[in-house]
Amino acid sequence: MIGSTVPVSLLFLLSLLFLLPRVQSNDNGLARTPPMGWMAWERFRCDTDCKDDPQNCISEALFRDMADRLAEDGWRELGYEYVIIDDCWMSKARDPEGRLQPDPDRFPSGIRRLADYVHSRGLKLGIYADMGRYTCMGFPGTTLDRIRTDAQTFADWGVDYLKFDGCNSNALEQLLGYPLMSKALNATGRPMVFSCSWPVYVGSLPPEVNYTLLGEICHLWRNYYDIQDSWDSLQFILDWFFTHQDFIQPAAGPGRWNDPDMLIIGNFGLSLDQSRAQMALWSIMAAPLIMSTDLRQLDNAARAVLQNKVAININQDPLGVQGRRLLQEKSKIEVYWRPLVDSCSAVVFLSRRSDMPYIYHTSLSKLGFDKGSYQVYDVFGGSRLKPLNSTEPIRVSINPSGVVMWYIAPANRNPGPWDRDWVQNQVQKQVQNRIQNWDRSGLHTLL
Ligand code: GLA
Repeated sequence: MIGSTVPVSLLFLLSLLFLLPRVQSNDNGLARTPPMGWMAWERFRCDTDCKDDPQNCISEALFRDMADRLAEDGWRELGYEYVIIDDCWMSKARDPEGRLQPDPDRFPSGIRRLADYVHSRGLKLGIYADMGRYTCMGFPGTTLDRIRTDAQTFADWGVDYLKFDGCNSNALEQLLGYPLMSKALNATGRPMVFSCSWPVYVGSLPPEVNYTLLGEICHLWRNYYDIQDSWDSLQFILDWFFTHQDFIQPAAGPGRWNDPDMLIIGNFGLSLDQSRAQMALWSIMAAPLIMSTDLRQLDNAARAVLQNKVAININQDPLGVQGRRLLQEKSKIEVYWRPLVDSCSAVVFLSRRSDMPYIYHTSLSKLGFDKGSYQVYDVFGGSRLKPLNSTEPIRVSINPSGVVMWYIAPANRNPGPWDRDWVQNQVQKQVQNRIQNWDRSGLHTLL
């Protein structure tokens, strides 16, 4: 992930921006809500040894398996629709025409056939490339002169999503390359979600990172370091995102999302409480919900967290406003909030403690809610609380390194997650929207 940055003067770089061909807006109907799906990297890394580890190596079999699980175990209906190949899928050499090609032993049927398979399961395929000489793991990169060829190759294969990393390039190449790839993808005529790792390589913050420009060329972007399989790593990322919320929170919206990296729920590093914390906070952040876990061996507790319909509903809220941290108490309790459609909102209480469940005392008016009466649904508890007046004292018991997540609606708002059919209707609505977007994008004519 750590790319080489060269000390090129910022002013020089900025002036180059004006020389760039006019970038088409990425406002093309894709990623109106944060993308959801599965990605190989965090769980399966660059395991290329299919002789020794056939179940887990990066191969077409792994992606078919995951597509099967997404299609058969209820994920697709919840919105988890992208199956995303990460690094290490390529052959070490391009083909005689200069095109990228998959490793012939691990992807004997080729990517086009894999895309067909993924589409036949009602899902979409994502792929990985790198703006630079080599990918982070040393496979062929996409230098500036290869951008159009690679974009066309992905379109020809039927790819629906590109993660464009930035290892082994300098700041100038990135400045030119990311907008050019955006344009090249658009020029293919095939709708492809464009995920940019650019900010990570140039310091993550303004003025080096221009979040307005990013929003114009990318549907999502990796702001910061890679997530690893641990609570420490998760907190490191969380701290960065909320410490810098003033810069990054306004950058998000339909079609443009900050990406704090994959969901590690279901792996080895998080307890059940910590898993709920990731799901809750990624939903507050309007973060892409891209799982990286072995869906063939997921335990029921992790499955329930990842398939929590109300948390997903909050994540996918059509208003698309990213939430913020409201409070960091001395008691190591933190409060997060995200506004949702119809004057509803989501609140998360997070405990950074390591002793025992902590009883936190507050009220909705202390958290900034308008005077009035509210209905509250406990997202992971799966139950409705008694109606609350904004001034009424409330006590919340929060487990160590755990969360309590509430969906809050004005009292007169009906229905809500507390109604038996509401959640199911919401899911149905999302499925319908996706099908309509799919039709509008013309994808069906290409399949
Ligand atoms: C970088 C990215 C990761 C992953 C690896 C693959 O580190 O940030 O998400 O794609 O490269 O090599």
